[in-house]
Amino acid sequence: MTERACDEKAIVVDGLVKRFGDFTAVDGVSFDVCKGEIFGFLGPNGSGKSTTIRMLCGLLTPTAGNASVAGLDVVTQARQIQSRIGYMSQKFSLYDDLTVMENLLFFAGVYKVKPDRVEQRIGAVLDLANLTADSNTLTGTLSVGYKQRLALASAVVHEPDVLFLDEPTSGVDPVSRRRFWDLIDSLARTGVTVLVTTHVMEEAEYCNRLVMIDKGRRVALGSAAELKQGYAFEVLEIRTRDVMNAMRVAENWPDVVEAALFGEDLHITCRENTRTTLQWQERFAKAGVSIQSVKPVEVTLEDVFVSLVASAEGTTGA
Ligand SMILES: Nc1ncnc2c1ncn2[C@@H]1O[C@H](COP(=O)(O)OP(=O)(O)OP(=O)(O)O)[C@@H](O)[C@H]1O
Ligand SMILES: [Mg+2]
Repeated sequence: MTERACDEKAIVVDGLVKRFGDFTAVDGVSFDVCKGEIFGFLGPNGSGKSTTIRMLCGLLTPTAGNASVAGLDVVTQARQIQSRIGYMSQKFSLYDDLTVMENLLFFAGVYKVKPDRVEQRIGAVLDLANLTADSNTLTGTLSVGYKQRLALASAVVHEPDVLFLDEPTSGVDPVSRRRFWDLIDSLARTGVTVLVTTHVMEEAEYCNRLVMIDKGRRVALGSAAELKQGYAFEVLEIRTRDVMNAMRVAENWPDVVEAALFGEDLHITCRENTRTTLQWQERFAKAGVSIQSVKPVEVTLEDVFVSLVASAEGTTGA
């Protein structure tokens, strides 16, 4: 449905499963990523994002299912995959006691960059990550934002086709985060495929498409706009001086799925809003609450995500 046509698929995931003993961390996840796409991977803590990435990087063997990256099978061709991918793990694996340049030289060695290409490649990634002036700085003294850019530079020093970024922006301020996304964008423009996990819903908007998972299962797949369109509810902002009573009243109405405080206002999520502002005012007035205004609120990916997770929980076993 929401699968768009690709000229070339960089990642194919088909019914991937990972069990640790009796516990199923990844439970039959499927999706494809097109070459050059920025693909978001969203899910709550413990939903199986890092486990999936580790299987796609050939670091962890799947219990069942198939997956390929850059046309290579993650089980039978795991070693070849490792030279075609870059992986930035949740904890940047940098050496604090090495300088920026020494870290890059180390990763160029790990990724087997040809000796005659090392200087040129390190120059290119320093430039890309805007770290040229810091090449002799001790890594341990860098701020988190700089470390993050160095971790990315290290992950692309060997010009990988596919880049896996596992929560690359956690702990980074909004300005550095925005700069980092510019970097990801410029890599994707050169044809690099990027799979990135995030908890920041705003970041998911920068992705061409995204998959949402919960408890190891896929709950949605599509572009941010498609996912919002598929959202079955409407959210209204109610302004009132009597917000606590308004909330108590609204949460008992059958068409209201959720009533929650949002700053000084009340947000109510309705199945379908067929009422005018006046009708809402009358409805609240009958229940003894005076309200000033009613405004529709633009649906966010967070709304979509929370409702998908709630409905997945309500239909366990479906
Ligand atoms: N080696 C392991 N042995 C046993 N259980 C594991 C192992 N690795 C992960 N798990 C469990 O699998 C589940 C999924 O973990 P995973 O790290 O993939 O989640 P995540 O979506 O990346 O979470 P977060 O957002 O916190 O990084 C968790 O319940 C975790 O405890
Ligand atoms: Mg993780």
